[in-house]
Amino acid sequence: MSEETVALAADHAGFALKEELKAQLDERGITVLDLGTDSDASVDYPDFGRAVGEAVAAGKAGRGIVVCGTGIGISIAANRVAGVRAALCLDATSARLAREHNDANVLALGARLLGPEVVRDCVSAFLDTPFPGGERHERRIGKLG
Ligand code: RB5
Repeated sequence: MSEETVALAADHAGFALKEELKAQLDERGITVLDLGTDSDASVDYPDFGRAVGEAVAAGKAGRGIVVCGTGIGISIAANRVAGVRAALCLDATSARLAREHNDANVLALGARLLGPEVVRDCVSAFLDTPFPGGERHERRIGKLG
């Protein structure tokens, strides 16, 4: 598994934000596995959520980030892949808690809902917060399958 690789994908509504995220990840020395989309032409978010989910589940990336208009559809899609725990986050606190309580391995963002600073903080919290473990969290995550 490449812990330093982040799989990234978006639908047309998230395309512009995905391109900005690539720069943020690049600044941090993170390798980006860009799974599309490649323009703002209309596409179907399930294809891109699944692509990131499968990349993370297969160990091609340590974590993933998915973006659509709301983050909702693409998070649902990513979560249909076994082993994926995608968290739709609206602020840095939810991103931090998604790591601490859920060991989330995919961050979902809504490009039409979040401003650039909030996005930046969400991504930093998601990448910088370790999963602390602990019996209760591990037990609950285990029940997710
Ligand atoms: C696309 O118009 C929009 O439906 C999609 O980006 C997303 O918000 C769905 O959940």
